[in-house]
Amino acid sequence: MIKKCLFPAAGYGTRFLPATKAIPKEMLPVLAKPLLQYGVEEAISAGMDTMAIVTGRGKRAIEDHFDRSYELEHQIDGTKKESLMDGIRGIVEDYTFSYTRQVEMKGLGHAILTGQTLVGDEPFAVVLADDLCDSDDKSVLMQMKEIYNKYPDCCIVAIEEIPKEDTNKYGVISGEIIEDNLFKVNNMIEKPEPKDAPSNLAIIGRYILIPEIFDVIKDTKAGKGGEIQITDALLTLAKKGKVLAYKFEGRRFDCGSVDGFVEATNYFYNKG
Ligand code: UTP
Repeated sequence: MIKKCLFPAAGYGTRFLPATKAIPKEMLPVLAKPLLQYGVEEAISAGMDTMAIVTGRGKRAIEDHFDRSYELEHQIDGTKKESLMDGIRGIVEDYTFSYTRQVEMKGLGHAILTGQTLVGDEPFAVVLADDLCDSDDKSVLMQMKEIYNKYPDCCIVAIEEIPKEDTNKYGVISGEIIEDNLFKVNNMIEKPEPKDAPSNLAIIGRYILIPEIFDVIKDTKAGKGGEIQITDALLTLAKKGKVLAYKFEGRRFDCGSVDGFVEATNYFYNKG
């Protein structure tokens, strides 16, 4: 059973400067809801009850968001606006939030390792809140959890097809198909140039990881960009046949980029 979801949210969000000078990227709203709340709701929809958040300096707004706000709540109690708070109130009341800080931003792999103290020795999900996912039926994380339940010795990464010229923005995998939309990964490279990319199947910000990953990250040297990359750590497990890549059903918006953010905003606005 996967009950914990880790949210690495310590990055600087430099593509959104100056907005991210004082506001965490994960708190930027699509319509009236912060990106991170969408991620938390996805985790909840997949049956998770503990949200483990890796924050950093300047990210205190995240903790304040997932907490009571007595003065504000008192102010709007009994007014028409009260219902706007229903979603977040329920989340704060019913789920557990825990936090740790990444002191040096040494990459996603390092951020996940920083979260070990929160997730302990059990399988867990990872959501990068700046990848906003939407699907008609089951959430992306729910789809992945169902696969994990079938292959409990493996990590699961979510993938999607991207234009070949964009491979240098993603971790890219190759593998053999073992089921519809499911690959056993045999290679993965972080941000390869298109000519070096093993495919056009890119990893997006949804993972299910087995606790063995922590020891592997500890032994993983800094890679692309001088950062400790989760892709490099996963490659070690892939060589042992322990990584599956799942082509999910649904849509993903790269809200870490201004273009993707605008696209997501229009999509959710039109969806109503
Ligand atoms: P990104 O590379 O997309 O985020 O990392 P960033 O570095 O904040 O953004 P830019 O490129 O400067 O605009 C993907 C996710 O991993 C987290 C980020 O917060 C984001 O959710 N992350 C990244 C960490 O928590 N720690 C890190 O050291 C790096």
